[in-house]
Amino acid sequence: MKKYDILNLNISTPCYFYDMDLLNKTLDSLQEAAKKHDYLVHYALKANYEEPIVKEIASRNLGADCVSGGEVDFAIKMGFEPSKIVYAGVGKTPLEIKRALQIDIACFNVESIEELDMIQQIAERMNKTATVALRINPDIDAHTHHYITTGLAETKFGISLPMFDLAVKKALELPNIKLAGLHFHIGSQITLADPYRLLSVKASELVAELKNKFQFTPEYINLGGGLGIDYDNPDNEPVADFSMLFDTVSQHLDIDSSIKVHFELGRSIVAQCGTLLASVIYVKNGVGKRFIIVDAGMNDLIRPALYEAHHKIENLTADLMRPGSPVQTYDVVGPICESSDCFDRDLTLPVTQSGDLIAIRSAGAYGSAMSSTYNMRQPASRYFFETKK
Ligand code: LLP
Repeated sequence: MKKYDILNLNISTPCYFYDMDLLNKTLDSLQEAAKKHDYLVHYALKANYEEPIVKEIASRNLGADCVSGGEVDFAIKMGFEPSKIVYAGVGKTPLEIKRALQIDIACFNVESIEELDMIQQIAERMNKTATVALRINPDIDAHTHHYITTGLAETKFGISLPMFDLAVKKALELPNIKLAGLHFHIGSQITLADPYRLLSVKASELVAELKNKFQFTPEYINLGGGLGIDYDNPDNEPVADFSMLFDTVSQHLDIDSSIKVHFELGRSIVAQCGTLLASVIYVKNGVGKRFIIVDAGMNDLIRPALYEAHHKIENLTADLMRPGSPVQTYDVVGPICESSDCFDRDLTLPVTQSGDLIAIRSAGAYGSAMSSTYNMRQPASRYFFETKK
């Protein structure tokens, strides 16, 4: 990011700054790692729906993973083929289902037997066949924050294992439903290989069950997303370890080679290319504390407030203009009227002054996408920088 001569770019803060070179490098690496195993990757739009980013991803021939009718329509607008759009979510409304059937999306990732019935009714009325994958909740702990764990039996997601047989039987019997696959997604920000090993083993068992009990072989299985990134050291390995994910799956998945394997990744594709830039308004002395008050708030990036997520914070002005300056301990906070509007506590930074430019790193995923105008604040500006092209 510093390569863009950031202090002389004349940008207004707060803003999301996107390093499009890094996005492209990440996509190159993703495609290379997936090609090795002939895996198909969908981009989980929910992570970031800035147009230049989504258009770049769509141009790479990836599929799109959507979780609302709004995302399905946006994916089409951004250039994804309907035949490459999959649609998950526990609460698809009849209108959303109808619209997705009209445009012939590739597949509904169905999260309940009740939803299966609803899709059948609507498809029948429209005289269409709906292609579905059953989203199975495999009851696997992803060892991540509990708010972003989705594959445990206690969460609302997917069809639970005891309902598996019933759901498959129904999907195979319903006249306007075509069962094409099984879908899983166990959580997000997964940094260990082991949850993916367990998922691969479980998915293989369920595919074997489909064959033994129902004489049915799916066209594909979708193992979801969830691959984590390094929030503590974003410059260390800025491109996520896609090979860790794909190699682990390939090693432990034991299914017929005719069955295609799909993924739907969000964070690992877009997180590191995005930085939230903010200016220091005041450096305030408190009781035994110093606060850096910046012009970005939890409305711009809610992850620290919501998940106690850690994003690396840098003082770019001090790093570039005052190298070797002494350090101080600060809480870095925003201007919103909430105590949780805090980006980090007891952080050691170079001595900071009003006007300094602060970078809150790894904010490309679930940053702008989850932002709001709380406190009637203006949305942060967006800048997309690229050295090539
Ligand atoms: N597929 C499904 C069905 C999902 O629910 C998700 C994310 C993904 C794929 C993409 O997962 P990823 O590769 O991005 O981990 N707002 C939270 C993350 C919520 C993730 C929700 N589902 C955060 O800021 O950490």
